Amino acid sequence: MNNQTEVQSVRKYLVIDGEKIKTDNYAPLYSPYSGEEIAQIAMADKAQTQRAIDAAYQARSVMAKMPAFRRAEILEKVVSLLTEKADQAAEIITRESAKPIMFSKAEVSRTIETYKFAAEEAKRIHGETIPFDAASGGIGRVGYTLREPIGVIGAITPFNFPMNLVAHKVGPAVAAGNTIVLKPASQTPLSALFIAELFEEAGLPPGALNVVTGPGSIVGEELVRNDRVSMITFTGSPEVGIGIRNRAGLKKTTLELGSNSALIIDKDADVDSIIDRCIMGAFSNQGQVCISLQRIYAHEEIYEDFTKKFTEAAKQLKVGDPLNPDTYISSMISKGEADRVMGWIEETNSRNADIATGGKIRNGVLEPTIITNAEPDLSVCRQEAFAPVVVVNKFNAMEEAVKQVNDSRFGLQAGIYTNNVRHALYAARELHVGGVIINDVPTYRVDHMPYGGVKESGTGREGIKYAIEEMTEMKLIVWNQN
Ligand code: SIN
Repeated sequence: MNNQTEVQSVRKYLVIDGEKIKTDNYAPLYSPYSGEEIAQIAMADKAQTQRAIDAAYQARSVMAKMPAFRRAEILEKVVSLLTEKADQAAEIITRESAKPIMFSKAEVSRTIETYKFAAEEAKRIHGETIPFDAASGGIGRVGYTLREPIGVIGAITPFNFPMNLVAHKVGPAVAAGNTIVLKPASQTPLSALFIAELFEEAGLPPGALNVVTGPGSIVGEELVRNDRVSMITFTGSPEVGIGIRNRAGLKKTTLELGSNSALIIDKDADVDSIIDRCIMGAFSNQGQVCISLQRIYAHEEIYEDFTKKFTEAAKQLKVGDPLNPDTYISSMISKGEADRVMGWIEETNSRNADIATGGKIRNGVLEPTIITNAEPDLSVCRQEAFAPVVVVNKFNAMEEAVKQVNDSRFGLQAGIYTNNVRHALYAARELHVGGVIINDVPTYRVDHMPYGGVKESGTGREGIKYAIEEMTEMKLIVWNQN
């Protein structure tokens, strides 16, 4: 690694009001793959979290007054700095999360694009004129709306895309003239601290982006409870998200939660051409993706062919060291998470499901696992696996497949492969999810599209333009000309 010393067990810090702050307590950060210690992470206490919130609160007026072109320039500068340091950024992601380096590189490319979208959207934030004379009481009035920054945003980000999901919160927040207190996931703080340095170099004013590492029970709790924070944007588990919503009072909350995403493969789908996408959908980033492909419903006429080819392809995936450029699957984020999923796989054994491939942990890595004949009430079907595990089921009629996809407490994205326009339209209408992806896997995402779910998959939308809508307040101006 070219700058190994920079990420090897150095003491990190909090970023508050543009300063690097030490704490009384540090926790070691270990690589999920090798177990080596890679850094000492500062553990903030409640008072330090409050200092970060106060700094963000004080910086509100500077950011709110900053012209759009200047906010765009800062974001463009982050784009160019990150482009220069893309290899370093990818290695940081891989070392702290065990994401295979090929996927970390792809994440960095997406992060660059996300900040580009944020820079562009910064110049497109506007309201609309209101036709007041549409009401008899509106005669002689003209008016328009403005979109104003919401203020301090508490951003709580997950481990699975530690750079791009930070970008999905920090990018639109800065574009809209807000300030941020960011609490990154405990396992992946290095990516967030790295990005904070780029923002400082890009000229973001002190206090506009604060990074507070530490326990969720202290840092997260203070963000959710503190009255100076106007909005919480959270990506993570439904349990934590629902808890945030219940404690956040009148704060706005955007919650990007989990799912057990499904794909329907119709009888006319070209099986050979979809295998690679299904492999990517089910196994990229060890399946630790909110829209990972977890349930497949294949028409009975192509079920055997699909399952055979999909299984063969899964068996070819290279498993092991995430820094090896050929590795496709590495360790899950923690041993505890791998053990949880192994428990679910064992449950399928006891209920006569078949494991077509995988189902074992070797050298600390859960193999890509395909399960068939699994009953719908098993945990691997009903819960969010967040693991390299996928279940393949058979269906006979499209109505039945759609019904099975909808039989879930989640509703983030669903996919359908079909050449039958009526089936595509039926699925688009009937699937109860935030996004229907026709002729691709539910794992499809580019960073400017609206992204978010229904049911326990969350509330609100990300995708820069849509996140900016969430992160701004509408203000109405009415002129009386009478
Ligand atoms: C997520 O896991 O919610 C993000 C998926 C993505 O950005 O591709």
